[in-house]
Amino acid sequence: MARFLIVFGIFGFIFQVHCSNQYDNYTLVRLHPTSTVELDLVRSFQDPSKEVSVLKESRGVNDTLDILVPPNKLKFVHDFANATGITLEVKNRNYGRTLESEYQRLPRRRVLRGFNLYGYNSFGDIQGYIEELANKYPSLVRLQDLGKSFEGRKMKLVKISSQPEANNPIIFVDAGIHSREWVAPAMAMYLINRLATDSDAMQIGGILDGVDWYILPVVNPDGYEYSRSSSNKRLWRKTRSKTSNSRCYGVDGNRNYGFKWAVSGVSSDPCHAETFAGSKAFSEPETRMVSSVMMDNRQRIKLYVSLHAYGQYLVYPWGYTGDYLPKQWKKLDSMAKGVSVAVQRAGGKPFKVMSAGKWYPAAGGSDDFAFGAAGIPYSYTMELTEGYEFTYPENLLSKVMPQFYEGFKEFGKRIKKEFGR
Ligand SMILES: *[C@@H]1O[C@H](CO)[C@@H](O)[C@H](O)[C@H]1NC(C)=O
Ligand SMILES: *[C@@H]1O[C@H](CO)[C@@H](O)[C@H](O)[C@H]1NC(C)=O
Ligand SMILES: *[C@@H]1O[C@H](CO)[C@@H](O)[C@H](O)[C@H]1NC(C)=O
Ligand SMILES: [Zn+2]
Repeated sequence: MARFLIVFGIFGFIFQVHCSNQYDNYTLVRLHPTSTVELDLVRSFQDPSKEVSVLKESRGVNDTLDILVPPNKLKFVHDFANATGITLEVKNRNYGRTLESEYQRLPRRRVLRGFNLYGYNSFGDIQGYIEELANKYPSLVRLQDLGKSFEGRKMKLVKISSQPEANNPIIFVDAGIHSREWVAPAMAMYLINRLATDSDAMQIGGILDGVDWYILPVVNPDGYEYSRSSSNKRLWRKTRSKTSNSRCYGVDGNRNYGFKWAVSGVSSDPCHAETFAGSKAFSEPETRMVSSVMMDNRQRIKLYVSLHAYGQYLVYPWGYTGDYLPKQWKKLDSMAKGVSVAVQRAGGKPFKVMSAGKWYPAAGGSDDFAFGAAGIPYSYTMELTEGYEFTYPENLLSKVMPQFYEGFKEFGKRIKKEFGR
């Protein structure tokens, strides 16, 4: 009988209904600040017991703080909203079920299919695909070994250049420092695919004409694979490192960079699930590898983009403070707005453009390090997609990734115009 059920695919359904997920009965709540006073209150929201997890910070008035609330904390959150007058929206009464159903659809059993351009691939399939491209187009796509992740996964930088000897300006894109933000590595892989295979990319005026692209598609492969390993682990954000003096795993890689490290918006508690900054700056091998790429190529890298999810934002330094902006902020702002317009023209949603730290200061981010320490003149964090938290449906990737790609073309055009010879 059991065999019969498995054969007909009913097993998955039964599993979904009866097997409890860690997030069973957790409520996804959005707190909606409608004034600067309410925004300050939302920013001060804290659950002393640390059982409430923050999925997305609010980055301004009318921009929600999204939190995942266990059943025993629901009253606490309602009381907070009630006491402050902040609008509370219940988005999903059982987030565990949402994670479970996504996990059931995860193509981890499609081993034989290999890499799927419009899907969420395993780290192994991603590595396989970039090696395939490097073999197929050896004069265009080169791989540089960067070293190994904490758990020993090999990290390879993808360098795409039609004139590798020309000393062109470089655009450096990375993705996936935060494990659960699956859409980010998917977009990095889509970018690699288009750069390497579009017939017009190399033409005069094409995206590779006069600009080289360096892409690291999965900065945190250990965390990425961990978040794929079960629906209970789907929301893992940090790396998977462990030091002997703590029982907890992982560091928030995007709080670990050595520029104004830990001055704001971080936790010093290794058990903090979101923003533990590490025992020291660059404690993580993964962030050290990214910083080496930046420092080794600092003369030529003119633009750095770090891909994240979710909420459609394109933010620039400083991230560590909202008190002041870099003196070049207008150039940063105007390039970001140009990119947003290009994505919109392609049918996509506009990005909210602002300095990262304006409403939500957080130190130790890769964008601040690129700008402030490596001296890269344009540096951004790009938060992709909204409306689905971290579980962006796989079947929508083929719609949005080509739209985002138009934004990258715009980046390329502007970098060539300002820095090309
Ligand atoms: C979730 O709620 C349902 C209905 O109230 C209850 O039967 C179930 O035991 C709860 N699950 C957990 C893990 O608390
Ligand atoms: C926030 O939304 C309200 C209601 O839609 C609107 O009246 C207000 O202008 C918005 N404020 C900002 C800063 O966007
Ligand atoms: C919110 O506060 C009001 C007034 O203090 C009270 O009457 C109401 O029951 C509260 N609602 C909730 C959901 O706690
Ligand atoms: Zn992120």
